Amino acid sequence: MGTIPAIKGMNDLLPDQIHWWQKLESVARELLETFGYRELRTPLLEKTELFARSIGESTDIVEKEMYTFADLSGQLLTLRPEATASVVRAFIQHNLQADPLVRKFYTMGPMFRHERPQKGRYRQFHQIDAEVFGIDDPMLDAEIMYMLRLLLERIGLRGVVLHINSLGCPQCRAEYRVELKDFLAREALGFCPDCQRRRHTNALRVFDCKVERCRELLVEAPMLLDRICPGCAQHFAQVRQSLDQLHTSYHIDARMVRGLDYYTRTTFEVVTDQLGAQNAVGGGGRYDGLMKDLGGPDLPGIGFAMGMERLILLLQQQDVGSRRQPMLFVAALGDAARPRAFVLTQELRAEGLATEMDYGGASLKSQMRKADKLQVRFVAILGDEEMTRGALQLRDMVTKIQESVPFEQVPQVLMRKIREGA
Ligand code: HAM
Repeated sequence: MGTIPAIKGMNDLLPDQIHWWQKLESVARELLETFGYRELRTPLLEKTELFARSIGESTDIVEKEMYTFADLSGQLLTLRPEATASVVRAFIQHNLQADPLVRKFYTMGPMFRHERPQKGRYRQFHQIDAEVFGIDDPMLDAEIMYMLRLLLERIGLRGVVLHINSLGCPQCRAEYRVELKDFLAREALGFCPDCQRRRHTNALRVFDCKVERCRELLVEAPMLLDRICPGCAQHFAQVRQSLDQLHTSYHIDARMVRGLDYYTRTTFEVVTDQLGAQNAVGGGGRYDGLMKDLGGPDLPGIGFAMGMERLILLLQQQDVGSRRQPMLFVAALGDAARPRAFVLTQELRAEGLATEMDYGGASLKSQMRKADKLQVRFVAILGDEEMTRGALQLRDMVTKIQESVPFEQVPQVLMRKIREGA
């Protein structure tokens, strides 16, 4: 019988790479909590209707990318393609607005979209997602983008650019849509069949089209950012002003419409030119009408999601950070030394020192080879002679200095060396 591989586009995260994930998660967690966000976790499965109503019936996600199926009771369910809808649902369902102090939430975990897999694009991928409810102050929009900048700095990522835009409010967007549809009607024959269809279903989505000819035609299209109402324009100007105050640089991208329908006013993306076609490492924006549309209180909302696979691909490409290696390898030779080395290894681990040993009774040469492969900083060598003297040989693999250290002093000596920067 053949083997059974994982589903295409759904990846195992193996021990080899997991340190990147752990680092990213812990940096994000710490930063988000400093900014007042509290973690929440929602189910991976929701009623299909939740996503259809929030993300929008005529978006790519809802039209063609959702993992939807009927369960045994015939209920239509969908594996979450994003987290915003679920977080809003949970906020409404648990009446979380009753606590006016906690309005900032974050969640991390897998999302599912049936897209064509390629580098940086998967069918199960992971997001760090954050959402804030009840605040329409443009300062918050800038604060979120500033926080994203800090996140990228803290994980050590370079070369990403913040793109911002405003999608206006339902009123100014409705007026603009009429104008855009007129333009699309005039040029209809030049556009691809998808865009011709989008003209009737969801005109703004034409800006998502990847077809070169459509993109060329759209250069002449009227732009929403030039037509947003005075209220929206002022909001956007204040976002920009606050970003300047926080020394957070940005690029205005009037063509950026984002792939989800719930957005209003500020939208943004964090973009890189180092990942080929999948250039967005994160994105988000305001959605001031979503909570009410989903049957909740009329509270504004704003949030973002970062794609963890893409961030990690970039970190790997830029070779940032290193694996948490064992600090010490205990190499033992002989029947007397091996049990002593075994106990010492456990003692050092209990002290919090990442320590490895060889369980198989291999030759010293092969143990040293293993220590080299593990890239440990120190090797403790124990043989018959060391057992008699009650002191082991501690070798610094970087400076190559070897010294004799009494057994009972090994933890302190190692701790001191680590404190001193070993
Ligand atoms: P999104 O732009 O659809 O927004 O996704 C956010 C990020 O998730 C993308 O920038 C990308 O890094 C990552 N991503 C999306 N699809 C894939 C995929 N197939 N494979 C790998 N990574 C992917 C949202 O999901 C919104 N919910 C963000 C938001 C939160 N807006 C307001 N609050």
